[in-house]
Amino acid sequence: MNQDDLEEEHKNLPPTIEDKLNSMQTFVDQKEFVVIDNGTGFIKCGFSGEDLPRVSIPTVMGVKEIIIEPSQTNDQGGKKYSRIYGERAQDNSHEYDITYPIKRGVIEDFDTMKYCWHHLLSHKNMHNQKKCNLLITDSPLNHKDNKIKMAEYLFDKLKDHNIAIDSLNIMNSSVLSLFASGRTSGIVVESGQGITTAVPIFEGYALPHAIKSINLAGEDVTFNLLDSLMAQGIEVDNSNINHIRKIKEQMCSVALDYDRAINSSDPLREESCLYELPDDKGIIKVDHKIRFNATELLFNPEIIGCDIPSIPQIAYDSIYKCDQDLQITLFNNIILTGGTSLLPGFKDRFEQDLYELAAHTARTDIKIDIDLPRRHSAWVGGSMIASLSTFDDMTIKATDYEENPELHDDAVLKKLVF
Ligand SMILES: Nc1ncnc2c1ncn2[C@@H]1O[C@H](COP(=O)(O)OP(=O)(O)OP(=O)(O)O)[C@@H](O)[C@H]1O
Ligand SMILES: [Mg+2]
Repeated sequence: MNQDDLEEEHKNLPPTIEDKLNSMQTFVDQKEFVVIDNGTGFIKCGFSGEDLPRVSIPTVMGVKEIIIEPSQTNDQGGKKYSRIYGERAQDNSHEYDITYPIKRGVIEDFDTMKYCWHHLLSHKNMHNQKKCNLLITDSPLNHKDNKIKMAEYLFDKLKDHNIAIDSLNIMNSSVLSLFASGRTSGIVVESGQGITTAVPIFEGYALPHAIKSINLAGEDVTFNLLDSLMAQGIEVDNSNINHIRKIKEQMCSVALDYDRAINSSDPLREESCLYELPDDKGIIKVDHKIRFNATELLFNPEIIGCDIPSIPQIAYDSIYKCDQDLQITLFNNIILTGGTSLLPGFKDRFEQDLYELAAHTARTDIKIDIDLPRRHSAWVGGSMIASLSTFDDMTIKATDYEENPELHDDAVLKKLVF
């Protein structure tokens, strides 16, 4: 999604956040927080209390070394680095070294991440933040050490780049997605770019023993689609990955009955199956077999030879890991979210397969909520909670962090328990 799409979405969105805040019997405080949702594919950034992030860019940085020749003055010369971000980096991968700092939901390259955060906070839509309060998300799977390291980078290392974080909270992205739905208990099934997670939450706290995840999400669908197109002799490769992603987002869907769907005739008219490649590379046909096949791995990983559970299976396993008393609440409050859940047919297939799995045990209906901005649900939940008058009490203050270096780990862990 590019910036124009995001601005368009802003205009069309009904004013839901305040309604939800009112229904949670809270009120909006004056202190403003910047909210950042770190995603494997997209990083989203904006201000608390707003309906959508102001900036959403692919989580990627490109770096190029530039040699500075000694000038005729006394300058000794040397080298410096040029850094670019997001789609611009992806589109210039031939010139720049490209790094994706988050792999499968986990920040693996903190130095690159630091530059990405700096880029967002300095963005014109964010009014170039030099000093701010920050709520930032963490994957439900991350080890607690990750929070400690995030705090270190955000408080200490960003300062070297002239950005001071005054207060900080790091929250579980699934808990925030649940808040965005107006609930405090339920199970969040989130399928994004790199990872799909099922996180049961009771009264605002994730239940770690029952969290399930698979390394299967949007990027696997994109690469599966790429493979199918290449197998058909279509001239595309990794350098076209943004276009392959766009083909997926515009044309692919999930079949309710896969075998039947691929053995029937194409439900779309011929012209709807055509995609124009950039730079006059021609028009390609993406038929129904390719479109349904690309997504099927989410519900049947075996078709790509992966011996891992499907998305409905991890939801089922996660619910059955929880106390029996809680299981009905979870079946009744399933929040389906993440960009990949936007695939047409995703919710129906998920519901059908989950009913099938639970048929012999479930004593209740399955209720699935998809009524939230699914590409941005964690960000939206963050925007809501950071607007609460009590939120500031839940943050670590830079002054406390600086004054008690020996308490860093404890202080971070004590405050950031979500
Ligand atoms: N309309 C759409 N149809 C299908 N897929 C979509 C659509 N919109 C976005 N996506 C996919 O959703 C993924 C991005 O979703 P999201 O922003 O929730 O992930 P993320 O937060 O970056 O990653 P993760 O949560 O896995 O760390 C991408 O793979 C993108 O192609
Ligand atoms: Mg995400």
